[in-house]
Amino acid sequence: MTKSPDIGGSILTDKTEGKTLFKPVRMRELGILRPYHTVIQGWDIPKKDYLKAHKEGGLVKLAIELSNVCNLSCSGCFTKRTDESWTERGKQRLPNELSYDEQVALLREAASLGTSTVDIVGAGEPMLDKHFTDIVDVINGLGMHAVVFTHGAQPALRDVEKWRDRDISFFLKLWSLDPKKQAGYVAGSLENYTHMRNDALRELVYAGFTNGPMKRVDGMNSIVTRLGADILVMRSNYEEIPQLFSLCRMKGVMPLVKTYIPEGPTRFSQTQAAAAYTTEHVAALRQDEVSPADFARLRSTLRELDYTLFGEIPLDTLYPGATKCTQSMASLYVTIQGDIRGCVGTHLSYGRYQPGMLAQAIKDRKERVGFGCIPRLEDAKERGLELPESLKQVYDQ
Ligand SMILES: C[S@@+](CC[C@H](N)C(=O)[O-])C[C@H]1O[C@@H](n2cnc3c(N)ncnc32)[C@H](O)[C@@H]1O
Ligand code: SF4
Repeated sequence: MTKSPDIGGSILTDKTEGKTLFKPVRMRELGILRPYHTVIQGWDIPKKDYLKAHKEGGLVKLAIELSNVCNLSCSGCFTKRTDESWTERGKQRLPNELSYDEQVALLREAASLGTSTVDIVGAGEPMLDKHFTDIVDVINGLGMHAVVFTHGAQPALRDVEKWRDRDISFFLKLWSLDPKKQAGYVAGSLENYTHMRNDALRELVYAGFTNGPMKRVDGMNSIVTRLGADILVMRSNYEEIPQLFSLCRMKGVMPLVKTYIPEGPTRFSQTQAAAAYTTEHVAALRQDEVSPADFARLRSTLRELDYTLFGEIPLDTLYPGATKCTQSMASLYVTIQGDIRGCVGTHLSYGRYQPGMLAQAIKDRKERVGFGCIPRLEDAKERGLELPESLKQVYDQ
């Protein structure tokens, strides 16, 4: 059995910074809880590596999509870009999706530019793409780690033996533990979604996906886990977030707590004008959007929770208590239709991918990059939203 690491307050802070540390209650000694501060494998890369690659015109990260096909139809899904691409039951294959050979060429070029992690962020449910395993094997064969965003209810995910020996981490959607509420968020053609997702989470934890080594990244010691939770904060699940966050801490899962990405139906500065969404669709999403002031308050609550578990946390990261943005600096995003963009929240296209175009896109890049979230900052500006100082600072990093 893997020995649990000693999680005391002192291990989280870089001792050379000479901080006085609060000694937390050792909850693990109660025998039931294991509070871990975690970073997902593939995102455990220090800022200095991103800065160096950025200066040298290289890449650390590539975000890609596989097919647009999905058996769910989340109302706020940011990859619902055109009206013919989705129904109430799911999402469909798009015209002009990159072929397998084009994806392989893209991955080879990314590897040659220094990429060490490939995030598979959509466009649909990646595990429904018939080339999913092949693509993961190409990524691994090129010496890169795959970080996969999945809704978590595909039976293939539970083939834990298959995934354990690959260089792969998973983020599962965790918007609510209440099956009724969660089913309302994801909709689509899957019965019993929440139970399937919960089973997968449990099986991945039991299979050891959260038992990584301790690593110091950006002055902070964390357990490197291979399991993360995508936690989208809305008004309707606001009260539940501290519970979801604590659950992640106890299970060694990295919590990725965030607000809507300003893209697709949740790009509120533009959606009214878009033919792909009805006014009611957008109004319902907008009604459920958490205000910047409430999100800032939630950040403080989560910070306090971490303080009671670990003592002082030295960094205020984009994702509360977790990590910086790793999809901006020294990173590019290529959609399944080959559109090269800065990141998932940006709209400027550097053209349809052809071999050689990644290096050119890095040279041509116009957006500001950073470890915060410039798109959220710009979205707030466009919409005239007042951001509390704490959010402004963290988005502007
Ligand atoms: C487009 S999904 C594709 C992967 C997979 N189907 C899934 O849902 O996990 C990629 C990630 O974006 C999250 N997501 C979807 N729409 C979002 C939005 N409007 N704002 C923020 N996150 C969103 C999903 O929960 C998921 O973690
Ligand atoms: S499961 Fe993922 S791809 Fe499918 S609709 Fe929901 S967010 Fe979009």
